[in-house]
Amino acid sequence: MDTPNQQQISGSGIPLLIAGCGSPDILKLLHSINSVGPEPVYDVLGCLDVLPENIEHGWHGLKVWDERSVDASDFPACAVANNTSGVPMRLRTKVTDGLRQKGFSRFDSLVHPGVDQYELTFGEGCSVLEGTNIGPHVSIGDFCALLLGCNVNHDVTLGEYCFVGPNATVLGRTTLEDGVYIGAGAVIFPEITIGAWTVVGAGSVVRKNLPPGVIVTGNPAKVIGKTDDVRR
Ligand SMILES: CC(C)(COP(=O)(O)OP(=O)(O)OC[C@H]1O[C@@H](n2cnc3c(N)ncnc32)[C@H](O)[C@@H]1OP(=O)(O)O)[C@@H](O)C(=O)NCCC(=O)NCCS
Repeated sequence: MDTPNQQQISGSGIPLLIAGCGSPDILKLLHSINSVGPEPVYDVLGCLDVLPENIEHGWHGLKVWDERSVDASDFPACAVANNTSGVPMRLRTKVTDGLRQKGFSRFDSLVHPGVDQYELTFGEGCSVLEGTNIGPHVSIGDFCALLLGCNVNHDVTLGEYCFVGPNATVLGRTTLEDGVYIGAGAVIFPEITIGAWTVVGAGSVVRKNLPPGVIVTGNPAKVIGKTDDVRR
């Protein structure tokens, strides 16, 4: 099998695979992280994906391995970063579970160097993109994605696999349970609880608690369906 050659994995950085050829935003994030110090933090080996066209042609100049035919022993001491595209987040749980079964155990959180991490705790496998503003006393679970320019205010709690879209705002003391998806530019009022795997449409305004597993849109946000119905 065509696995990384010695030159690729002998650089000074931590060898890294990107799980999923989703958004090129992750490449910019890695560039920002690698540009801070005198040596790059990561050596990006390539991606893992299942789409034949990506495996055949590569992705943004990176090699793509077929996720189904590799395991962790092919990539010694390699960290994995989740790509930032998050729809639907339930797919991400499958990808992560599958990679764990293949022996991958190190899922690094990538945080843009400009993001102030004061009084912030977060788990593994997260991606926090440029321009994200996170208030104090925020707790972010594993495998969350916070996209460009979003605001997560003070005392907010995010479960696992949450997605906060570009320029969305989550106001103070709000709780997003596991897998909550906040679309681009949505606003979540303070002290709200959003139930697990609920999807808030782009530009929506949420002023009341939401149950698990629903799709809401509009201002004020109204339920339009269940998350099983989400097509994109
Ligand atoms: C809410 C969402 C998930 C619904 O997706 P869907 O289940 O495929 O729904 P559809 O596109 O079939 O739309 C269903 C109806 O809701 C309306 N609708 C969809 N999204 C809406 C939104 N954000 N605000 C207001 N109305 C919306 C549609 O116009 C449609 O109305 P109609 O039946 O009167 O024509 C999706 O539209 C959305 O907002 N996704 C977030 C995108 C985003 O922010 N991505 C970030 C990428 S980095």
